[in-house]
Amino acid sequence: MSRRPRLLLAGALAAAALGGCGGGDDGGSTSGVSASPGERVFVETGCGSCHTLAAAGTSGTAGPSLDGRDYDVPAVEGWVRRGGKGMPAYDEQLSARQIRDVATFLATATRTP
Ligand code: HEC
Repeated sequence: MSRRPRLLLAGALAAAALGGCGGGDDGGSTSGVSASPGERVFVETGCGSCHTLAAAGTSGTAGPSLDGRDYDVPAVEGWVRRGGKGMPAYDEQLSARQIRDVATFLATATRTP
C-alpha cells in the first residue's frame, strides 16, 4: 500500500505589495509606456476620472468624452484654468507648464486627421 499524500504547496505567499504609485512630480514612471508629460498630467491630476479619453486609457463619465474632438491648445488651456459647470478650475493646482502640457496632449490626442 503506497500512501503518498501529495502536498501541493502552491506558493500562495506572493506579497501583493502593489500600489503606492502616487503622484510624484518628478520621474515617477507609472507605466511601462512612455507617456508624454501632458498625458501624465491628465492621468495624475484625475482628469480621466471624469473624462473618457482613449489616448490616456481613461473612461470617466462625469464630464463629456474628449475623444474625437478637435481641440486647439488655447481652448483647452482656458477650460483647464477656469473649469466650468461641474469641472474644477486648475489654475492654482497646476503650473502654467503643466496646463500647457496637458492642453498640448489633448489637442494632439483628439485631433481628427
Ligand atoms: C470632477 C470632474 C472633472 C474633472 C476632474 C475634470 N473635468 Fe473637464 N469637464 C467636466 C465637466 C462636467 C465638463 C463640462 C462642463 C460644461 O459643459 O460646462 C468638462 C469639460 C471639459 C472640457 C471641454 C469639453 C467640451 O465640451 O469641449 C475639456 C477640454 C476638459 N473638461 C478637460 C479637462 C482636463 C484636461 C482635466 C484635468 C486637468 C479635466 N477636464 C478634469 C468635469 C471634469
